[in-house]
Amino acid sequence: MKLQGLFLVAFYFLTYTQLVKGQPHKDCQTSCGGIAVEYPFGTSPGCYYADDPSFNITCNERDELIFGGNEVINISHSGELRVWVDISYACYDKEGNLNNSALYTYSLANLSLSANNKFTLVGCNALALLSTIGEWNHSTGCLSLCDSQPAANAECNGEGCCRTDVSVPLNSIEFEFSSFRLKNMTSVHDFNPCTYAFLAENGTFDFDALKDLKNMQNVTKFPVVLDWSVGYKTCDQIGNTSLCGGNSTCFNSTRGIGYNCKCFEGYEGNPYLSDSCQDINECTTSNTIHRHNCSDPNTCINTLGSFHCKCPSGYVLSTTTMSCKRKDVGWTTIFLGSIIGFLVLMLGVSCIQQRMKQRKDTKLRQQFFEQNGGGMLIQRLSGAGPSNVDVKIFTEQSMKEATNGYDDSRILGQGGQGTVYKGILPNNLIVAIKKARLGDNSQVEQFINEVLVLSQINHRNVVKLLGCCLETKVPLLVYEFITSGTLFDHLHGSLFDSSLTWEHRLRIAIEVAGTLAYLHSSASIPIIHRDVKTANILLDENLTAKVADFGASRLIPMDKEQLTTMVQGTLGYLDPEYYNTGSLNEKSDVYSFGVVLMELLSGQKALCFERPHNSKHIVSYFASAMKEDRLHEIIDGQVMDENNQREIHEATRIAVECTRVTGEERPKMKEVAAELEALRVAKNKHQWSNQYHVETEHLLGVEILSAQGETSSTGYDSIKNEARLHIETGR
Ligand SMILES: *[C@@H]1O[C@H](CO)[C@@H](O)[C@H](O)[C@H]1NC(C)=O
Ligand SMILES: *[C@@H]1O[C@H](CO)[C@@H](O)[C@H](O)[C@H]1NC(C)=O
Ligand SMILES: *[C@@H]1O[C@H](CO)[C@@H](O)[C@H](O)[C@H]1NC(C)=O
Ligand SMILES: *[C@@H]1O[C@H](CO)[C@@H](O)[C@H](O)[C@H]1NC(C)=O
Ligand SMILES: *[C@@H]1O[C@H](CO)[C@@H](O)[C@H](O)[C@H]1NC(C)=O
Ligand SMILES: *[C@@H]1O[C@H](CO)[C@@H](O)[C@H](O)[C@H]1NC(C)=O
Ligand SMILES: *[C@@H]1O[C@H](CO)[C@@H](O)[C@H](O)[C@H]1NC(C)=O
Ligand SMILES: *[C@@H]1O[C@H](CO)[C@@H](O)[C@H](O)[C@H]1NC(C)=O
Ligand SMILES: *[C@@H]1O[C@H](CO)[C@@H](O)[C@H](O)[C@H]1NC(C)=O
Ligand SMILES: *[C@@H]1O[C@H](CO)[C@@H](O)[C@H](O)[C@H]1NC(C)=O
Ligand SMILES: *[C@@H]1O[C@H](CO)[C@@H](O)[C@H](O)[C@H]1NC(C)=O
Ligand SMILES: *[C@@H]1O[C@H](CO)[C@@H](O)[C@H](O)[C@H]1NC(C)=O
Repeated sequence: MKLQGLFLVAFYFLTYTQLVKGQPHKDCQTSCGGIAVEYPFGTSPGCYYADDPSFNITCNERDELIFGGNEVINISHSGELRVWVDISYACYDKEGNLNNSALYTYSLANLSLSANNKFTLVGCNALALLSTIGEWNHSTGCLSLCDSQPAANAECNGEGCCRTDVSVPLNSIEFEFSSFRLKNMTSVHDFNPCTYAFLAENGTFDFDALKDLKNMQNVTKFPVVLDWSVGYKTCDQIGNTSLCGGNSTCFNSTRGIGYNCKCFEGYEGNPYLSDSCQDINECTTSNTIHRHNCSDPNTCINTLGSFHCKCPSGYVLSTTTMSCKRKDVGWTTIFLGSIIGFLVLMLGVSCIQQRMKQRKDTKLRQQFFEQNGGGMLIQRLSGAGPSNVDVKIFTEQSMKEATNGYDDSRILGQGGQGTVYKGILPNNLIVAIKKARLGDNSQVEQFINEVLVLSQINHRNVVKLLGCCLETKVPLLVYEFITSGTLFDHLHGSLFDSSLTWEHRLRIAIEVAGTLAYLHSSASIPIIHRDVKTANILLDENLTAKVADFGASRLIPMDKEQLTTMVQGTLGYLDPEYYNTGSLNEKSDVYSFGVVLMELLSGQKALCFERPHNSKHIVSYFASAMKEDRLHEIIDGQVMDENNQREIHEATRIAVECTRVTGEERPKMKEVAAELEALRVAKNKHQWSNQYHVETEHLLGVEILSAQGETSSTGYDSIKNEARLHIETGR
């Protein structure tokens, strides 16, 4: 078979014009016949990418853009060049002779045939070939067979039409296609006089068995896609020297050689120019590909490379409809929200409550402080008075801490006066803290009274008041901690101590008598204790007496011998005269002391209902024993021995004198103290040999002074201890 009309496209060799990295002239032709001509393609030197002559395309005088002899349809940045390519055909007469035909050769230059093309044959009993010409000549093709007219709806699948994918080697530079009748088949001439072979972009040809087999000649060309790319190198190889400009990126060409460029997503422009890719404003663009999809254009917000739909607060964007919907608060959200809200509310409320409570507490403390006479007290304590006692004002907080929150385990004792706690101050000092019973106003008064009284006294046989706390509802008093309980405990109670000898008892009696005498006459303002009893006499570890509990005590103004008050005291110790008349004087304390002395002598309680009817009270008990001359019976067996009978007799006499019915008959406390002291002096004189005589005299002299209320001193204490040591070793 003879092939006619072979047409070779010539190649153009470039005279290179130097360009700054691919940038074209400003006045380049930008379109030809309505088709955009963009760099790297160009129609004149300096306008196309000079390294590759393939980009030199021509705009002819008929305003047609020509590449490789074919009219260009369009060029894409991504590497496609679409051209019109004529179909080849061969027509036969009834005898089977070839009447006319067309066969073309096409130039690819440095471009490739895209895989998106199909090679198609239309005809019966015919063969079509696609031949490429290059380093290796190469052919592909397909065969169509039919003896009669195919059905109208026949597909292009081998009967009247066949097609095949195109896979052309890269190094092809030209191609051609041809079609032949296989046999002298006059029988098909009526419905198929010609055979056609052509390349067409996938999807651009639809086979119609009736029309196309009869005559396709007025369809002369189909679009064919060619792939183009820049250079031979991949993106990695070309690096930052590629043509790709700003806002663009390089990608490997689909043809497997060279690279192409594309603007970033959301940008548009020519990526092969240095500064052409610009952000697309999706909100305003009319290009439907890039246009925003917000249902309400007013919500559209352009961003670099993208956009978003901004819903007003309280609304949320539905991604399916791109419209704003009111926020859907689910049950869990409501549930969680309400729980959190509730918690926050609770927190707030408790915070406020705490605040209010704190404020109230502070106010209350202040109020208590005033109510408890705090202001007056402070004035008196800090005033320029003669008091040399350092009374501290404690805060409520420090009291709470010292008593471990008024813990029950810290309770030392509970009585009419209130509760006494053991407290530990921050400096590890152990103290006794007395707290009045709640809701007893008279006790509050007594507390204040005690503070005032004790603040006037500094005596070594008086329990020392360290301070007080007035911020609580009932005031608290803080004393030195006396370790060994009360005299009551030692005589009758839990600490009963058989080793409490006569010497001890006499000394305790002397100390108490001395203390009372001091209170009555020597203190700056005379003080009547009013509640002298064994339970109010504390003993320290050396069994030294400490008179405590001045809650009932009274300060007697100098100019008044006696004072009329509400009768107060403890049954058994209460002066009958005072009880009857209500008029208080120092002789009431003398009576009470007499009872204490009787207790010391007899070891019996002041009131005992187990004793015979007329001896229930210790005073009458002693009186009846005296009358019946059986005093030896009622004296504590532990106390009496042959050496001290005289002293005990004397002491008994003193006790009875002290408990006389009328105050006038009773001796003064000073006298009592002196008489008792004399007993001891006599005893010591009697007992001790002459070698100790001088020392003892001296020591006892000091002692008497002390009992009469001289301020104590350390020097005195050490001598005193020594003296006691002598007494004990002497026995
Ligand atoms: C570009 O192509 C045109 C037409 O094909 C040709 O005349 C011209 O010489 C070519 N230019 C270069 C530099 O090859
Ligand atoms: C393009 O093709 C011509 C002719 O085949 C060749 O000389 C040239 O090197 C090629 N250039 C590129 C960049 O492919
Ligand atoms: C080029 O033309 C084809 C067919 O006419 C069309 O489908 C394609 O979208 C066009 N491409 C560009 C970049 O214009
Ligand atoms: C042969 O071709 C010519 C024109 O190319 C045409 O006029 C003529 O009818 C054809 N003959 C047959 C038998 O088809
Ligand atoms: C084809 O066959 C017909 C008759 O069958 C004959 O007249 C004709 O010459 C043949 N043509 C060729 C080219 O052989
Ligand atoms: C050709 O197009 C059809 C649909 O138009 C598609 O299914 C097919 O994959 C395409 N073939 C190629 C090689 O692109
Ligand atoms: C390829 O075909 C062309 C023309 O058809 C021919 O000139 C050339 O010699 C062939 N090359 C090879 C390697 O066969
Ligand atoms: C040829 O083209 C004309 C007009 O473009 C059309 O009317 C006619 O049907 C076409 N013929 C065939 C066989 O497609
Ligand atoms: C290209 O990258 C190299 C290093 O990777 C750098 O030295 C050079 O300056 C870059 N050139 C440009 C134009 O960015
Ligand atoms: C380009 O191709 C090369 C070689 O095939 C490959 O190593 C590289 O990862 C590719 N680069 C991109 C961006 O796809
Ligand atoms: C990249 O895009 C931004 C936004 O459109 C633009 O302002 C900037 O000039 C562009 N950069 C270049 C190098 O073109
Ligand atoms: C709207 O556009 C965005 C970005 O172009 C896209 O991710 C999203 O799927 C689109 N949504 C709808 C509903 O079309």
